[in-house]
Amino acid sequence: MARAVLASDDSDLADVDTHRGGDVIIRTSDLTKVYPGMDRPAVDKLNLEVRRGEIFGLLGPNGAGKTTTAGMLTTMVIPTSGGAVVGGIDVVNQPALAKQAIGVVPQQNTLDRALTVWENLYFHGRFFGMSAGDSRTAADELLEEFHLARWGKAPVMALSGGMAQRLMVARAILHKPEIIFLDEPTAGLDPQSRLALWEILLRLHAGGQTILLTTHYMEEADQLCDRVAIMDHGHILALDTPEGLKAGIEADTIVSLHATGDLTKLARSLSRRRVVTNVVELDGELRVHVKGAADALPAVLETVDKSGSRLNDLTVHEPTLETVFINLTGKELRD
Ligand SMILES: Nc1ncnc2c1ncn2[C@@H]1O[C@H](COP(=O)(O)OP(=O)(O)OP(=O)(O)O)[C@@H](O)[C@H]1O
Ligand SMILES: [Mg+2]
Repeated sequence: MARAVLASDDSDLADVDTHRGGDVIIRTSDLTKVYPGMDRPAVDKLNLEVRRGEIFGLLGPNGAGKTTTAGMLTTMVIPTSGGAVVGGIDVVNQPALAKQAIGVVPQQNTLDRALTVWENLYFHGRFFGMSAGDSRTAADELLEEFHLARWGKAPVMALSGGMAQRLMVARAILHKPEIIFLDEPTAGLDPQSRLALWEILLRLHAGGQTILLTTHYMEEADQLCDRVAIMDHGHILALDTPEGLKAGIEADTIVSLHATGDLTKLARSLSRRRVVTNVVELDGELRVHVKGAADALPAVLETVDKSGSRLNDLTVHEPTLETVFINLTGKELRD
């Protein structure tokens, strides 16, 4: 059973629906981090608003500043300048109070190896000021809900990566925080564990939990998030719903082609066609953004033919968030 249902007596959650899409639960103002010795900011004057009840994604490649942003919002990283208010609390001036309002699933496994699975939950609750009884009940319920009950007495070392990640999510929500932060929650997980984690997050979302996650998986941002901020080099390049971001691209179809011959010349010829809105050359492949697929494909093929190139491979797909990222930066999300 979803915790959201279990927690339906929680007044904070009960009135979430009236707020959904409404009030702002995280607000940053010119939030900036310059690490010592770095010549440019890891996060540069970030202005961001996250609404209560939404799943908000920070999508960006390695080094974009996702962890640093999440770190500042969760009091782990002290901003160089600017500020952030999370759940009504100023994270810079009141970090201890802010910690109560948030649950964190960090990028690395931070489970306590000296404790059992159950104890990891129980002591977390105690640390957050819950009574022994409440903490025990919450630990029992969460292990049940996250399908970890039979591992309760096991050392955390015995858990698989997917199970450890589920336990970290259970731990993050145990003290009923207003917002949970997950930093690359499914990085390195097998597809099945990734899906299981997505289901958990969607269930929490259905119960009104505000979730901020970072990811460099475009599918994750696309399928899970209500709104996505695309980040690179400490800046937000675009922010919208996944549909809005994709609709913002002029093209409705992407034709990816591998061809022999002068690709740069071919790209130039293609970009002169009326149906072609953009051509990006990446790793020996041309991504041709086209509008009006029916006319576009013959036009692309004709241009390839005329250019003297030989087509080796061609795939057609709809724009993805990766297309949006490539459009914005000229590079791929993955390094
Ligand atoms: N403790 C640190 N000291 C110095 N520089 C750092 C530190 N942490 C991060 N950086 C730098 O700040 C920039 C942003 O890093 P950050 O870890 O926030 O990015 P990220 O988007 O989380 O990347 P990844 O996908 O690799 O986790 C990078 O250039 C990184 O090298
Ligand atoms: Mg990171």
